[in-house]
Amino acid sequence: MQLPDYKEARKRHQAKVEKETYVFDNDAVNIGLNKTYHIKTYGCQMNEHDSENIKAMLEQLGFTEEEDMEKADLIILNTCSIRENAHNKAFGMLGRLKHLKEDRKDLIIGLCGCMAQEEKVVEELMKKYKYVNLVFGTHNLHRLPYILNEAFKTRKQVIEVYSKEGNIVEGIPVKRANKFKAFVNIMYGCDKFCTYCIVPYTRGKQRSRDKDDILKEVNNLVKQGYQEVTLLGQNVNAYGKDLDIDYKMENLLEDVAKTGIPRVRFMTSHPWDFTDNMIEMIKKYPNIMPSVHLPVQSGSNKILKLMGRKYTKEEYIKLFDKLKTIPNVTISTDIIVGFPSEEESDFEETLDLVNYCKYDNGYTFIFSPREGTPAAKLKDMSTLEEKSDRLHRLNEIMNKYFLESNQKMVGKVVDVLVDGPSEKEGMLCGYTDTNKLINFVGDESLIGKIIKVEVTDAKTWSLDGKQK
Ligand code: 5AD
Ligand code: SF4
Repeated sequence: MQLPDYKEARKRHQAKVEKETYVFDNDAVNIGLNKTYHIKTYGCQMNEHDSENIKAMLEQLGFTEEEDMEKADLIILNTCSIRENAHNKAFGMLGRLKHLKEDRKDLIIGLCGCMAQEEKVVEELMKKYKYVNLVFGTHNLHRLPYILNEAFKTRKQVIEVYSKEGNIVEGIPVKRANKFKAFVNIMYGCDKFCTYCIVPYTRGKQRSRDKDDILKEVNNLVKQGYQEVTLLGQNVNAYGKDLDIDYKMENLLEDVAKTGIPRVRFMTSHPWDFTDNMIEMIKKYPNIMPSVHLPVQSGSNKILKLMGRKYTKEEYIKLFDKLKTIPNVTISTDIIVGFPSEEESDFEETLDLVNYCKYDNGYTFIFSPREGTPAAKLKDMSTLEEKSDRLHRLNEIMNKYFLESNQKMVGKVVDVLVDGPSEKEGMLCGYTDTNKLINFVGDESLIGKIIKVEVTDAKTWSLDGKQK
């Protein structure tokens, strides 16, 4: 049994990140024969991609995927810790699974992802959720075959969570959810330690993958006919800073663009490390998509400082203006309201910033204290009612700009990578180069292709169009 340890998770040593290679655990071979699995994934793309790894490892062991959770022999929850409601969802699901297990004693339940990295969560699982058979963290995904084998053999609760800063494990198999759009990790972890954020604790030290491993993966995707890669990391612009060679995000962007993959995206960017050279690369290569997610979090310098964001509103705006020189660029953001000691005047500064930036898209959140982070200890001044009111006022303004941004597209012909059937009956949907969702009538043979669509109508969250 190896339990999470927050003190360890907080530390950052100078030691070089070690690279390991995934080795198939022969002892576990065939433990999944004639058994099925179901994975529920919460949270961000990083988790989505981890689940693609988990699925492939399970299939190596003989398991097959079962769409209907209630019928599966093995259920894994890949969890998120970013806000309290993500926690509640996972614990709510565990409650449901308890009932399922009462009827089906041999059901195996696993919990992994960010919540598994939290001391308090694991303590609770050990005390109140004994029926959860296995718990593993974000640093030891690759140990799943071993951990699962132990759980099968011993029928006891097996917990293995590493809290050291994390290595890089190459060669974990992957079962991609999509045949033409792929996630590619370029770095893991985060060293920014924004005071509200749990990620540096759950995902460990910032560590970049070798460029050769990344480019090999992208080249393979190109050979398989993939149309789009999204380069993933908690803070992608810091790519390469921890490597011995002089090779940064701008170099990686250029090399990935040169593989010829039709679309390159990347997320998430921190305003701190966004260089002019990165902007030049986006302008230079038409296959780097002109759409940037640039979380601002707050428009008040007082709050930005308390958040530990390391930039001022003025510096953010300077970068924002530079990004706006990329032709047709769209910019989205994340904003937190109700951070401890946020006053009405601070919030109004956030509104002023939104009125300046007129974002094309974005996500807004009420501050959620995360145990173990510095902001969780700060005195909270506003009531939930005030926070909800701020969120509501912010959303009204944000939504107005999303709609305006979409309305500007009407009449234009855009490139769309067709995803599949739309939620709108009888229509297809896909994303424009600028990352806008568009619905249109078309034949299913278009799925996975990049086609021209004329924008005919604009909504707040999507466009309508017709194929050209
Ligand atoms: N409370 C509310 N929102 C948070 N985010 C991160 N941590 C918290 C928190 N403790 C938001 C940030 C981040 C996005 C992924 O989630 O806006 O950019
Ligand atoms: Fe992703 Fe962060 Fe949630 Fe973990 S805590 S799943 S890294 S969003």
